[in-house]
Amino acid sequence: MASEAFARWAARTEATLERLLPDPGTEPARLHAAMRHATLGGGKRMRPLLVYAAGTALGAEDALLDAPAAAVELVHAYSLVHDDLPAMDDDDLRRGQPTVHVAFDEATAILAGDALQTLAFSALAEADAAAGLRIEWVRTLAAASGVAGMCGGQALDIDATGRTQTLAQLQRMHALKTGALIRAAVRMGALAGGADAATLAHLDAYADALGLAFQVRDDILDVEASSEQLGKTAGKDAAQAKSTYPALLGLDGARARLDELAAAMRQSLAPFGERATTLAALGELAVQRKH
Ligand code: IPE
Ligand code: IPE
Ligand code: MG
Ligand code: MG
Ligand code: MG
Repeated sequence: MASEAFARWAARTEATLERLLPDPGTEPARLHAAMRHATLGGGKRMRPLLVYAAGTALGAEDALLDAPAAAVELVHAYSLVHDDLPAMDDDDLRRGQPTVHVAFDEATAILAGDALQTLAFSALAEADAAAGLRIEWVRTLAAASGVAGMCGGQALDIDATGRTQTLAQLQRMHALKTGALIRAAVRMGALAGGADAATLAHLDAYADALGLAFQVRDDILDVEASSEQLGKTAGKDAAQAKSTYPALLGLDGARARLDELAAAMRQSLAPFGERATTLAALGELAVQRKH
């Protein structure tokens, strides 16, 4: 049952994050508390679940997947802290709690994001895994986090605010700001399972469709859902004139795009048969999620 696996993997993620994060009772205590606030006790843990699901599909043990699962969530948590800053989306609610710069202060939020990012790479470098695999994980996560990934996508997002993009530009922005980390999650799991080039190509195609679908769904939920449901402020994209799928294609057009992406995911996973049950379930979740 996919849901049993998800509960087990989510619990492993919480335990690994708890172990990696600095003690709030030690100095600098305020920074440590902010890092924990950003990371623990919330979030769907979609990216860690993708690491475990991809690794398991290729026969990797849970224990080998703990470090990359936690590492990608640490980079994601950092990206959210910085995304919410006044200089970026200026949000005060995240995962049902005040954002880090509101609960603490702006300098602490910047530093907490910085420190979460470096903690992710320490976790990979120090993982109980073969040296070659650790290097591949570091390379994969670094590429997905930097200018050719999440940071680059966030820069495009800021540039596009208040402007109309072409569909191709919008797709590229989403692929970078959200898709890159999702692809890295699937890849890190696949690398742990010893994936060959052909397997990686199928899983990349699945992850690319999922990553885009995840952000298209995020854009739709920003229009349709309530702040209570989301745990973050709804309606922000229109209020800030963000470039989104519903803004460009309308809600129906964005939903039609999601249906196409769901079909692309099913097609990419077909060669894996039963082994891809949890990956398929995560794909469904990405397009159907309510928060
Ligand atoms: C929110 O990500 C930001 C996007 C990339 C769309 P999630 O929807 O995964 O947020 P959490 O981790 O569950 O809070
Ligand atoms: C954020 O996209 C993507 C990141 C890299 C953090 P959004 O700005 O749409 O994410 P939310 O809606 O604030 O979670
Ligand atoms: Mg943003
Ligand atoms: Mg935002
Ligand atoms: Mg959003």
